[in-house]
Amino acid sequence: MQIDNIIQKHKTQKEALIPILQDIQVELNWLPPEAIKEVAQKLAIPLIDVYGVASFYRAFSLKPRGKHIITVCLGTACHVRGGARIVAEVSRKLNIEPDETTEDMQFTLETVNCLGCCAIGPVVVIDGEYYGGVTSSKVNSIISKYRK
Ligand code: FES
Repeated sequence: MQIDNIIQKHKTQKEALIPILQDIQVELNWLPPEAIKEVAQKLAIPLIDVYGVASFYRAFSLKPRGKHIITVCLGTACHVRGGARIVAEVSRKLNIEPDETTEDMQFTLETVNCLGCCAIGPVVVIDGEYYGGVTSSKVNSIISKYRK
């Protein structure tokens, strides 16, 4: 249903494959197999080609992701300021490792190598909101803002 609307918005043109996948990714936080199949059918593109595009770009996820995406920077500047400790603390709090999602589908933990704002490291981004100078003791209060 949602997928259908997204495809219609782009007028089922083959050139719209990436924008359609981007919209689905934004809507669902990942690209479910049924959605990929529907896109392939509606755009008359071989399924394997849609998977090829979906797996090529890091922005697309073929694994279910949580409602909230927590990205912890492990680039050099953030690493020397304790980025790894932040990852460990988030992992401990949510009981997941990087690239995993909590069982209740609320949070996915990801790491990245530099977000381009090294001066405020260590940096954590949750759903596009940036937190600088994060310490282990701040992790709990930051995460609790996103708990339902
Ligand atoms: S190293 Fe973390 S923002 Fe650059």
